[in-house]
Amino acid sequence: MKHNCKMGYTNSQCCLERALVLYLPCGLGYSPSGFQRKLHLSVLIEKCFSLINRIYKWVSNSIRKKEMGFNKENSNSPRIYENIGPTAALVSYYRSFSDIPFARQVSDIIQAKEIAKNLIVNDDAHLARMLVAFEARFKSVDSVLKKYPHINRFIEIPAGFSTRGMAMTADNSGIKYVECDLPAILREKQKLVVELFSSTNKSEKPDLRFCPASILDFDQLRLAASNLGEEPIAVITEGLFSYLTPQEKAVAAKNIHALLKERKGVWIVTDLTRIFKPNDSKATELRERISTQTGFSPITGCFASVSEAKKFFEHFGFTVRDYRRSEVIASLSTTKTSMLKEREIEKLLEPQATFALEVR
Ligand SMILES: C[S@@+](CC[C@H](N)C(=O)[O-])C[C@H]1O[C@@H](n2cnc3c(N)ncnc32)[C@H](O)[C@@H]1O
Repeated sequence: MKHNCKMGYTNSQCCLERALVLYLPCGLGYSPSGFQRKLHLSVLIEKCFSLINRIYKWVSNSIRKKEMGFNKENSNSPRIYENIGPTAALVSYYRSFSDIPFARQVSDIIQAKEIAKNLIVNDDAHLARMLVAFEARFKSVDSVLKKYPHINRFIEIPAGFSTRGMAMTADNSGIKYVECDLPAILREKQKLVVELFSSTNKSEKPDLRFCPASILDFDQLRLAASNLGEEPIAVITEGLFSYLTPQEKAVAAKNIHALLKERKGVWIVTDLTRIFKPNDSKATELRERISTQTGFSPITGCFASVSEAKKFFEHFGFTVRDYRRSEVIASLSTTKTSMLKEREIEKLLEPQATFALEVR
């Protein structure tokens, strides 16, 4: 049937209007002509655009979530923490460029580069920043531990492929060290330690133990600590906090607080705020790769600022000492061959805090 457009309406306006009349629910007071008609038409067009806009936002949000590997903190599906495992290989790969004891050997044995190949962003400037940031993180923890010379009992959770336990127990100086992580990764770690020391006369390492535990499970933490007698302990949490949701961070904080209340000692925690600015495209690429492949975003748990992080731990009954990665710049090996300028390194490391937390 031929349709004649009303005066002042283009054909497409008219068609849109007819479509809306068919589409919209009854009772909208549609007026067929004159000023009211124009008024209703513009209201209808506005509503139509708002509907399209809502549909667009809904569709693009679902697509974006998939690309980012989704954070499940708002969903009911369980979070599979083992999936964070490959990031431990990535960190091991970054540390293999440094002079951290055993870092190169460990990375070679586990074939860290191969395991982490889908996570690594191949860009020289980005890699230079990662090497410096991760060597500094490790050495900052070591430097803070030295401020507690009376403590010689340690729990590292998560241990991942950290070499700290091997290095600290290497000379049998009375230090006792328990490495904790989730069972699968801890089994790999144990195997690698055996392989690393099998050719030496130090293959027996009674001072270095392995105890599967989640930081979210107090009983497991307590069991791990029972390997260390009654003395004060240092608990080291390097590279996990930024993956946790607010609820998980609260559980972890309560658990370690309860443990240290029983045992005395200190909790050393890193990764409290974002390392890179949101507009750093290579860091964004890395974050997206990690999110997609592990299902965990490495910035979920980042506090907006160091002072916000401080307030969080104080709320759970800790006193907070704030040390910065920039304090260890002089000890870094990756800065020597790095293409980064001194000022750039300072700017990268100064905002990064390592907290030493004691029960108040
Ligand atoms: C980025 S790696 C850091 C490992 C190590 N601290 C390092 O610096 O090399 C993260 C580690 O967290 C471990 N992890 C994930 N969820 C955990 C949990 N709930 N409790 C203990 N460890 C966990 C993973 O298995 C992985 O080894």
